[in-house]
Amino acid sequence: YTMSYWLIVPAAGKGKRFGGQLPKQYLSLGQSTVMQTTLNRLSTLSEITQIIVPIHPEDDIAQTLTYQNPEKIRFVTGGAERADSVLAGLEAIKTQTKPDDWVLVHDVARPCVRLADIRLMFTQLATDTVGGILAAPVRDTIKQSADNGENHIIATVPRQQLWQAFTPQMFRFDVIYQALTQALLQNHLVTDEASAVELLGLKPRLITGALDNLKITYPEDLLLAEFLIRQQTT
Ligand code: C5P
Repeated sequence: YTMSYWLIVPAAGKGKRFGGQLPKQYLSLGQSTVMQTTLNRLSTLSEITQIIVPIHPEDDIAQTLTYQNPEKIRFVTGGAERADSVLAGLEAIKTQTKPDDWVLVHDVARPCVRLADIRLMFTQLATDTVGGILAAPVRDTIKQSADNGENHIIATVPRQQLWQAFTPQMFRFDVIYQALTQALLQNHLVTDEASAVELLGLKPRLITGALDNLKITYPEDLLLAEFLIRQQTT
C-alpha cells in the first residue's frame, strides 16, 4: 500500500506579538491574504490528501475566504495553545489514518515556503521511522546576554551545531500523536512539534531549507514576504 500525507496548518492563534485587531493570517499579502497565499500554495501539492486548518472558535473570516482547492481544506476548532490546535487537527483525521502515514505541520504565517523544499522532505525522510523538520544552519554569530535586563554579553555561543527551526515539520502519525498527547499531559511548553517528539527520546532530522521561508511576525514582514514570493522560481 502507499501511505498518505496529511497537512495541518494551525491558524487558531490571536497574534499576540503582532499587535493590531486582525490575526496576522488575515492581513493583505499582494492580491490576497497571508492565509490564502499559504493554503493556495500548499494545496497544489498532489501528494497531500487533506489540509486540516484549526481555527479560533470565534473566527468568522477563515471560512468566508476563497481558496484554490477548497475541496482539500477542512476547518476544525483549534485549542488554547498551538499544540492543542495541532492535536485537534490530529483528532479530526485519526480514524482515517494509518500509524505510519505522514503528518506535516506548517505555520499559516509562513507563506513563502518553497514546494521544492517540501518535496525534498518527502524524499529525504521517505524511509525514516520518525520524521524531520525544515531548518537552516545559524549564520550569524550568537551571543548570550546576562539575565539582568541590561543586555551585557556574557558569552559567545558556538554556532556549528545550531539551526533555526522552520516548518513544515513532518512526522509519522503515531509519533506526533503520542508526542503531543504526552507533552500536553506533562505540561511541557511546546513551541514546535519536534520539541514534543524530542521529549519522547526520538531524534527528528534537520532538512536544510531555503532561508526565505520567512515567518510573518511583525507588520513590516508583509512587504518582505511579498517581495520574496515575487523572486521565487521553485
Ligand atoms: O504566535 P505564533 O506565531 O507563535 O503562532 C504560531 C502558529 O500557531 C500560528 O499559525 C498560530 O495561528 C498557531 N496557533 C494555533 N493555536 C493557538 C495558538 C497559536 O493554532 N492556540
